[in-house]
Amino acid sequence: MKRKYRQNSFANIDMTAKTVIFTGGTDGMGKEAVKKLIRMGATIMLLGRNKSKTKDVVAELNTIAKQEKAHYVYCDLASLDTVRAAAQYILEKCATIDYLINCAGANIGSRQVTKEGFEMNWTINHLGPFLLTNLLLDRIKKTPNAKIINLTSATTGWVKMRLDDLQLTKKWSLLQSYAQAKLAMIMCTRKLAKELKGTGITINALNPGFIKSNLLREGKGLDRIIGVPYMFLCAERTENGGDRILRLALSDEFENVSGKFIYEDHIKNPNPEALDNELIERIWNISREHIGIIN
Ligand SMILES: NC(=O)c1ccc[n+]([C@@H]2O[C@H](COP(=O)([O-])OP(=O)(O)OC[C@H]3O[C@@H](n4cnc5c(N)ncnc54)[C@H](OP(=O)(O)O)[C@@H]3O)[C@@H](O)[C@H]2O)c1
Repeated sequence: MKRKYRQNSFANIDMTAKTVIFTGGTDGMGKEAVKKLIRMGATIMLLGRNKSKTKDVVAELNTIAKQEKAHYVYCDLASLDTVRAAAQYILEKCATIDYLINCAGANIGSRQVTKEGFEMNWTINHLGPFLLTNLLLDRIKKTPNAKIINLTSATTGWVKMRLDDLQLTKKWSLLQSYAQAKLAMIMCTRKLAKELKGTGITINALNPGFIKSNLLREGKGLDRIIGVPYMFLCAERTENGGDRILRLALSDEFENVSGKFIYEDHIKNPNPEALDNELIERIWNISREHIGIIN
């Protein structure tokens, strides 16, 4: 199944004065996006959990840039302490933050719990990026027209929030754990967009499409046995995903768009639960408690 793909024309944009904070730029579509951003002249703070892999990508980016425009920041989204340390480092190094791109995500194939006691897919796909965004928010607010992009998923349309057991202690599945984390991300994107109204800062949630990547490598059993070849055969080119991130970040079309769910190339209504303000408020408050912000 080949999807229609929109060519992008942002290659000539000058990003030399822009600072981009990017998670998930060490592999998959994120890596495609950061390689193009560095060619446009951007300064990139590349957050990664794997020291040698992230440093290799930073070196590759700096070779393209022919100068030190990419910088390594250690951050494992499964560990909220490392997110706090990464944010502190970024605040020391970056006077402005023009773009925060929360691209990192994972499909952990069995129920695991983080050191802080939260389900792993919930943490990597929602709490980690939510904490990072909160910690960088004041600096982002000081940067005119800054943009935040959160990578979510089409799977958010296939689940309901399991409010009675958000940590899925009774009945866990990969789909439920991954998709409800990404759904929480859409809800918090919408809530934050309301708070940022009038500031010139935009925040949106992007489903990049079904894209060839390494996302399923931490899957288990049938999810992996069926999922990996299916992705190999049916998904779009990795570059298309990277381009969708860049299009949302850079094209005039999305200049003043905020609080939206962008499905590949278009604004689309998300799961109706992500339009339910009462539910959004509950998920927002729970998420804030989980990251240690008491309401
Ligand atoms: N591919 C798709 O069809 C698809 C569809 C919908 C949404 N998405 C979303 O798109 C985003 C990009 O994924 P992708 O498909 O390009 O997958 P990918 O190739 O697996 O890349 C995922 C990136 O996230 C990083 N990451 C994973 N766990 C992390 C952690 N604990 N701490 C810090 N970084 C971590 C990875 O780092 P390492 O290099 O260290 O592994 C890698 O850079 C994800 O948010 C994913 O959920 C993908």
